[in-house]
Amino acid sequence: MEFRQISAAERTATMFPLQTYAFLPSPWSDGDEAAYEQRMRFFETAINLVAEEDGQTLACAASLRMRQNVRGVVHDMAGVASVASHPSARRRGIVRGVLERLLRQARDEGSTVSALYPFRPSFYARFGYVGTPRHRIATFAPEGLSHLTRAELPGEVERLPMRDGFDEWLGLRERLLGERHGFAVYDATRAAEFRDDKRWVAVARVDGEVVGVVDYQVAAYGGDLYASDLLTTGPLGRALLLQFFGRHVDQVARVHVRVSTEEVPELWGTDFTVTTEAKVDHPRHGGPMVRVLDMPALTGTAVGAGDVTIEIVDDPLVGGLWRLVGEDGRLTVTKGTSTPAATLSVGGFSALLYGVLDPVEVVTRGLGQVDGAAVASLTSLFPRRMPYICADF
Ligand SMILES: CC(C)(COP(=O)(O)OP(=O)(O)OC[C@H]1O[C@@H](n2cnc3c(N)ncnc32)[C@H](O)[C@@H]1OP(=O)(O)O)[C@@H](O)C(=O)NCCC(=O)NCCS
Repeated sequence: MEFRQISAAERTATMFPLQTYAFLPSPWSDGDEAAYEQRMRFFETAINLVAEEDGQTLACAASLRMRQNVRGVVHDMAGVASVASHPSARRRGIVRGVLERLLRQARDEGSTVSALYPFRPSFYARFGYVGTPRHRIATFAPEGLSHLTRAELPGEVERLPMRDGFDEWLGLRERLLGERHGFAVYDATRAAEFRDDKRWVAVARVDGEVVGVVDYQVAAYGGDLYASDLLTTGPLGRALLLQFFGRHVDQVARVHVRVSTEEVPELWGTDFTVTTEAKVDHPRHGGPMVRVLDMPALTGTAVGAGDVTIEIVDDPLVGGLWRLVGEDGRLTVTKGTSTPAATLSVGGFSALLYGVLDPVEVVTRGLGQVDGAAVASLTSLFPRRMPYICADF
């Protein structure tokens, strides 16, 4: 078995047949292959790895160059995607070989963290990933927002085709990357594909400053409006975008919009009828999973107070003893020398870092062992705080 990094141009001959077989209805048509080839310019900065035997590609995976905010620090992030193997080559450990090499290379090239959308979380748990919340979808009739329709708000919303609104859409994402825990963005090469999306963008501005963006499609007159993430800098941006949706009262029956776990849509209005749902099923609707690739690079993370030595077990990238000290609101990570007060899988540690599980849950989920006193130190260091990744890949 040979493992090889390939260029984006080589993906069509090697990865396309595996990915298309795995993820799309098949056999495919010539048009699909040409369309895939056209898209490859957006994958030029990705790390693309394949496993080959006797000249045949048996497995593949890619790491997209992304950035992510983890508790206030923006890290390079490996966005893992395009994981597939040939049906005759499955369960031979070939994907393990590809993924281990991919994660090591991404770490060596500077990625501190990694995220992916799992077809089955238990598969990626074997590679150190742990689950984070899936986005919610709020569904409501625009008339529920009638209190906003005529409100005089100090700002305005402009509706643009994606091509014209793209720079502001991306600009707000870049701003939120610096401000929101968990938020992740693509590099410019990969993000450029979205410029051609056949979608509208509503851009909310106050005194010329962008305070909210949401992209959407209208499926039918009298039907549904499907929006992706409601991205705002705060309540005024949200009110402006909701007012904009409210003004579709005579045009669409329902609005569907993606929101983070922090949003509470039932508080958007009095007598407001809304369903907020996070549907999780596999393989198509998983919550994103995350893991740490580099411990010392976490120094500087915004944390609570504490001083604890942990051992991370069974991981080639971050395994070993680590001393975690939280002082003046910042974390310092150094090699540990004392007896560990907690023994954690990389998934268990990642769950604490990202704020999705507390130390007791880490133990009850089977992701580690934590001494009684270390429960308090780890809870203080890593208060619960739900990440919102936002990007799909
Ligand atoms: C998912 C897929 C990539 C797995 O490939 P594979 O070649 O069978 O994987 P490997 O043999 O390298 O298995 C790696 C590890 O995962 C385990 N594993 C394999 N399939 C699993 C599953 N469905 N659930 C949980 N664990 C699984 C293996 O036992 C092995 O464990 P170990 O190394 O700790 O002993 C392959 O089945 C596939 O292409 N499926 C269709 C496309 C897809 O769903 N891709 C993932 C998108 S997120």
